[in-house]
Amino acid sequence: MYVCLCHGISDKKIRKLAIEEGVQDMRTIRKCTSLGSQCGKCVKQAKEILSETQQALFKEAC
Ligand code: FES
Repeated sequence: MYVCLCHGISDKKIRKLAIEEGVQDMRTIRKCTSLGSQCGKCVKQAKEILSETQQALFKEAC
């Protein structure tokens, strides 16, 4: 599903950055993808996806 329509960034891309590249914060996601740099409507949902992914990774590690 597309999270950022302005830049064509999907939830999969956000999860991939968190899981494979170890990205832990929105600042880095924004730098890597330009997410949120146009209308900004996607930022809240992207934060939620990043948070969910980090929680899942934490549970896996324990
Ligand atoms: S939807 Fe992401 S900047 Fe507009």
